Amino acid sequence: MPDRTEVQLGFRRDAQGRLTISGALLQGVFEAAQVGTPAYVYDLDGLRSSAQALEAAFGAAPHLTAYAVKANTAGSIVRALAAAGTGADVVSGGELEVALGAGIPPRRIVMSGVAKTDAELDLALGHDIFAVQVESVEELDRLAARARAVGRRARLGLRLKPGVEIDSHAHIATGHDAAKFGIALDDLPAAWQRVAAHPELEAVGLSSHIGSMQRTPEHYLAAAKVVCDVARARRAAGHTLEYIDFGGGFAVDYGDAPASEPAAFVSAALALKAEQGLADLTLVIEPGRSLVAPFGVLVARVVQTKAGKERSWAMIDAGMNDLVRPALYGAKHRVELLASAPSTPEWRVVGPVCESSDDFGSHPLGPEPSGLVALRDAGAYGYVLASEYNGRALPAEVFVSGGRVAHVSPSPGRGAWVKRRLEA
Ligand code: LLP
Repeated sequence: MPDRTEVQLGFRRDAQGRLTISGALLQGVFEAAQVGTPAYVYDLDGLRSSAQALEAAFGAAPHLTAYAVKANTAGSIVRALAAAGTGADVVSGGELEVALGAGIPPRRIVMSGVAKTDAELDLALGHDIFAVQVESVEELDRLAARARAVGRRARLGLRLKPGVEIDSHAHIATGHDAAKFGIALDDLPAAWQRVAAHPELEAVGLSSHIGSMQRTPEHYLAAAKVVCDVARARRAAGHTLEYIDFGGGFAVDYGDAPASEPAAFVSAALALKAEQGLADLTLVIEPGRSLVAPFGVLVARVVQTKAGKERSWAMIDAGMNDLVRPALYGAKHRVELLASAPSTPEWRVVGPVCESSDDFGSHPLGPEPSGLVALRDAGAYGYVLASEYNGRALPAEVFVSGGRVAHVSPSPGRGAWVKRRLEA
């Protein structure tokens, strides 16, 4: 067992090419967990330490890192991040209850979403969260009505649509004019009128989130500048504000291009905020992926190889139902054997699901792949997007700390699935 003070956190290879998780052999840890494949394995130490590093980037500036819980809702993960100082950005009543249940104080939670139901608004109001981030002028009326109904004042932020396009996958870009998210700048006068008309509404902030996988701060800052302009105008008109929220969207390295540096986004955002005369406002950011993606893998087993004229396939027991990102966004996750370093030839790695898009791409799995493989960087938007398609139970999750299994969340199993479907 390596000296724990010196281990390099996260998933790496040792001198023999074997995959390690914060210094321990991944295969050994996985076997100790006694779950079948497929299963997600997470490095709690790695994600905790990366969240701490991000927190440190703020120095003494007033801030709230609102972890976008949608990226990974596992209690062990939300608790580990909360211990490192994060709050939460939630988009449903379910996520709000997970954040609260994981011990995040209500005043460290923001709620976004274009179609929050009355019940979700009531839940947020009942807990008096930091802010409900309102995404349309019309929502302001409904929020006011719910606040009246439950006898609370509603702390809110206006989510702006800054009109900034990012060159990311169209499914994960959110800040352009045609997006359903946020309030168009032209509609702001109407929004402020509604705020003024409803005494139950207390507008405490402004937010924006222009999309995911931003590698450099350029677009982030362009959108942030729009938020700052609106904030300055609002203050100049004699109103108070508590926070500005520039959103999340920091890119990770899926093996194809360097990761973003979230701390550099934070430094640039703080500089911008100061330059704009807004240093006293709390800076909220909403990172999801960057906090968790690199610290999770999906472990699967090679169940069959097959030689073809044009290519050879390695069929594994994880499918698009377990990790849908490749099928949904054409995303690439490195697939690697646990026991040895990548080596030629390449194999087309596919899952068991009856869809051609159940395809994880080509990976160098060596002469005759067998045993366990890891689909890397699957800590974000992996388990949360999993389904039971093709009669497949949801995968297990294994949480590792100090090189040991800290917690196992088992798969509900085939039997439970069969029973539920027969009862339907
Ligand atoms: N804030 C809001 C309002 C969001 O909608 C999102 C992500 C985030 C923050 C966090 O963004 P992040 O830091 O994780 O990039 N399923 C897709 C990603 C969808 C992102 C949805 N919104 C994927 O697997 O690539």
